[in-house]
Amino acid sequence: MSAEIFEKVKQIIAEIESATPQTKEEVEAFRIQYLGTKNQIKPLMGEMRNIPNEEKKAYGQLVNQAKSVAEAKFNALKERAESAADEATAGDIDLTAPAVVEELGSRHPISVTQNKIIDIFGRIGFKVAEDREIEDDWHNFSAMNTPEDHPARDMQDTFYLKDSTSMLLRTHTSSVQARTMKYQKPPIRIIAPGRVYRNETISARAHCQFHQVEGLYVDENVSFADMKQTLLYFAQEMYGPQTKIRLRPSYFPFTEPSAEMDVSCFICDTKGCNVCKYTGWVEIMGCGMVDPKVLENCDIDSEKYTGFAFGMGIERQAMMLYKITDIRLLFENDVRFLKQFTSAI
Ligand code: PHE
Repeated sequence: MSAEIFEKVKQIIAEIESATPQTKEEVEAFRIQYLGTKNQIKPLMGEMRNIPNEEKKAYGQLVNQAKSVAEAKFNALKERAESAADEATAGDIDLTAPAVVEELGSRHPISVTQNKIIDIFGRIGFKVAEDREIEDDWHNFSAMNTPEDHPARDMQDTFYLKDSTSMLLRTHTSSVQARTMKYQKPPIRIIAPGRVYRNETISARAHCQFHQVEGLYVDENVSFADMKQTLLYFAQEMYGPQTKIRLRPSYFPFTEPSAEMDVSCFICDTKGCNVCKYTGWVEIMGCGMVDPKVLENCDIDSEKYTGFAFGMGIERQAMMLYKITDIRLLFENDVRFLKQFTSAI
């Protein structure tokens, strides 16, 4: 009889040893079975009264062994579960890892320069007008008094769309003059920034794509003096109050008279340096009085209205402002280059 009871305890010890609870639930079931208030080991102690005296000690020890095996096993299981839990959290977040530094973006120097120009003209009432880069022949050339056989078309090597003789990539923002005058009526006072394209060999000074800002003012009694004063204001706001301007006679099909405007070199103040190529002056734009023919092409009464227009390249001015010596840097988007520019506008 007692041998049977001994056997039962040994069997329970064997069961405890071979148990392999894995999940949290299984471990908890193990605890309840062997260590809980109604565990399987407790009633074994009650069997003591059926054990002959000379065997009581050995029996007591065996039951205690069952208890300690169960406790040891449970503690080991608990420890394993805890370190597994630690590892799992560690996989999600490593609080000791160095922080990832987010790179702060900055505006492109072309945008900064363009925004400066827009801001300066905005203060005297010029509104931004933007339009398409893929343009038709009429708005880019014909309306601007540059008919098909006009030699001025050779001045601007044009990219035509494939298999088209009339659709092209605009060669200048003057196309926005035509669009605005055709579809709005005076008074017109706009500034038109945007990308333009010309089939030119890429070099340190020229690119097949670049940016221009066009200006147009059409109203009654607009004079050449108005233009000169407006452009002087712009030059001094852009390059400093000491800046002087110089208008040299020039030719554009869409303006009459036409001029090119130079500003006194803001690096050397006309003393001569390599930015102004030792001339003291830097050319920044073309300008002139809107040719009456252009007004008529856009259905504006040229007897009643006059206007002035100007167009300037942005790259050239960005290069001057930031002393950039190669235009290609402005299109390559090398982060090491771009990182050097910061601006509030
Ligand atoms: N469109 C001319 C150019 O690209 C610039 C210009 C604009 C000249 C307006 C006069 C008036 O060279």
